[in-house]
Amino acid sequence: MKLIVANWKMNPVSVADAIELVMASDYENFVICPPYPFLQAVKGVIKKAKLGAQDLFWQGPTGAYTGEVSATELKNFGVEYVIIGHSERRKMGETNEMVAKKVAAAVKEGLIPILCIGETLEEKKSGLREKVLKEQLEIGLSKIENWKLKIGNFFVAYEPVWAISTNPNAEPDTPEETRKVLDFLKEALFNFKLKISNLKFLYGGSVNADNIESFLQLPDISGALVGGASLKKDQLWKIHYKKIY
Ligand code: PGA
Repeated sequence: MKLIVANWKMNPVSVADAIELVMASDYENFVICPPYPFLQAVKGVIKKAKLGAQDLFWQGPTGAYTGEVSATELKNFGVEYVIIGHSERRKMGETNEMVAKKVAAAVKEGLIPILCIGETLEEKKSGLREKVLKEQLEIGLSKIENWKLKIGNFFVAYEPVWAISTNPNAEPDTPEETRKVLDFLKEALFNFKLKISNLKFLYGGSVNADNIESFLQLPDISGALVGGASLKKDQLWKIHYKKIY
């Protein structure tokens, strides 16, 4: 069954709204990633979906890091998945090195990382897509210790930045292009010094109920990372309905 990761970003505005939304998203193939203040409420409501967080900090389990949340805190709370290196965080200054430390902390704690990689429109236009993706992937994975133990539990989300629905003129990548990128990423992983060949890939960027099937049908795609559409109740059941086994 293909995985749908609902990235709520900084939405909604209240616990009551979060509960209403999660009730419309409680499917067995869904991972719900709410903002931290709603984790408790979401956890209390879900029966089938899994709980995810949108970020973590690499230090921990505790410490003098105002505003941060550690992998251990998330794990102890009952979070299973964590999004790391989303382009909206990279845009605010998160580097590949910071992403690598977060990925390593997540793996060490037994959380399932969803490492986001993706090129900007400028990078794509200047022919830098492959270089950027390879760097994001290789550096992002470079600090993991003992990785063979966790190999079944790692997702890489390919999210072209220009395809994310909140960007001006955003439109989804085509499944054909995504397929080419995935082939490239698989090859890059194979040549990587750890010889990793069995990560799972997600696609993200303007995914909705109308186009999700075309991405989920790709042989190397294990699911989708969904932002805007995961906040719309009418989209959620349609997306679930189109799950592909
Ligand atoms: P979108 O967002 O589905 O609204 O394009 C995806 C994401 O940013 O993770």
